[in-house]
Amino acid sequence: MDLYEYQAKELFAAHGVPVLPGRTVETADDAAAAAAELGTAVVVKAQVKTGGRGKAGGVKLAENADEAKEKAGAILGMDIKGHTVHRVLVTTASDIAEEYYFSFLLDRSNRTFLAMCSAEGGMEIEQLAVERPDALARIPVDAIAGVDKAKADEIVAAGKIPAAVAEEAAQVIVKLWETFVSEDATLVEVNPLVRDPQDKVIALDGKVTLDENADFRHPDHAGLVDERTENALEAKAKAKGLNYVKLDDGQVGIIGNGAGLVMSTLDVVAYAGEKHGGVKPANFLDIGGGASAQVMADGLDVILGDPDVKSVFVNVFGGITACDAVATGIVEALKILGDAATKPLVVRLDGNNVIEGRRILDEANHPLVTQVDTMDNAADKAAQLAAAGA
Ligand SMILES: Nc1ncnc2c1ncn2[C@@H]1O[C@H](COP(=O)(O)OP(=O)(O)OP(=O)(O)O)[C@@H](O)[C@H]1O
Ligand SMILES: [Mg+2]
Repeated sequence: MDLYEYQAKELFAAHGVPVLPGRTVETADDAAAAAAELGTAVVVKAQVKTGGRGKAGGVKLAENADEAKEKAGAILGMDIKGHTVHRVLVTTASDIAEEYYFSFLLDRSNRTFLAMCSAEGGMEIEQLAVERPDALARIPVDAIAGVDKAKADEIVAAGKIPAAVAEEAAQVIVKLWETFVSEDATLVEVNPLVRDPQDKVIALDGKVTLDENADFRHPDHAGLVDERTENALEAKAKAKGLNYVKLDDGQVGIIGNGAGLVMSTLDVVAYAGEKHGGVKPANFLDIGGGASAQVMADGLDVILGDPDVKSVFVNVFGGITACDAVATGIVEALKILGDAATKPLVVRLDGNNVIEGRRILDEANHPLVTQVDTMDNAADKAAQLAAAGA
């Protein structure tokens, strides 16, 4: 789960990372009140879960409460890369001597954590990473050893942070590591991490991604979920314990058993879709090994509730849960759903007890269900039906 800047900075503050005071508001009048309360020049910042807010005009300086009202009025309701601004953070304006870049992230390809640090941070960091990658230090962090002061010193030196603030920057980095580990984050990014004219080091921005697999040990993280922008289908799937991800621009609903099978199903459907007007997979849904009728019904219910979906591809490889059990699950699921099932289903069964599974589906003879024996042909059929229904 990605956090808003203001939420990220609340976590930072809780772990002793220096941030500036601020308040999050939803109206221009409240922005004026917040600025008056802070009693300083402020920066009004769009709270959206996407980068490049500053460049899009979503970060503005305001000298006083009147200006804060005007700037907030302009930013609220703005669209930044498809994200509507519902809230702004009104925060103390800082004098900035220098802007640095810092992040901790999960480096999956190298099976380790990674610290990234640069003395040349700010809004052009993406460009820096492409044009002068050497200026952005990448330091692997051992998951067991973690980041102590000595490791932080190494990171600060590699990032070429000036000596005058190296000590303080290293202390901040240790606290950012504490945040990263104790909150079970997969990303903690600060851009810019600033040096002010008094050589204080402050996190002016914050991006945090929390690992949802660790939610069970963070009951407080539930309060960070933003109901307003959470995808309704994903929320429904989560409530039912399903492993579902909605994909953009797709028309073929996908259900499979096993994450690997579902991933390859997405590829095969995208490939088949090219011959049918470019239809694409609409979601990822893994119903796992023991796919009971109820799980199948829950999965179909979520997928059929997606207005983008025009056909559904159920791709099952029978293993411990054999094909006959899955076939019975599909038949029962369609009974549970009744009239709620309205879109064509292409079912491909293979593996353990496949003959019996296919017989059960043939016998049920449901008008929405088409059986296809191979994965490629089934993908083609599902893509064709989606194109016809679009
Ligand atoms: N409190 C502040 N005081 C002074 N300047 C600020 C403050 N907050 C942000 N800025 C300036 O605005 C720039 C952009 O702010 P910020 O980094 O928060 O947004 P962004 O980088 O555009 O957004 P994102 O990180 O989502 O891409 C900063 O690099 C900094 O120069
Ligand atoms: Mg930033």
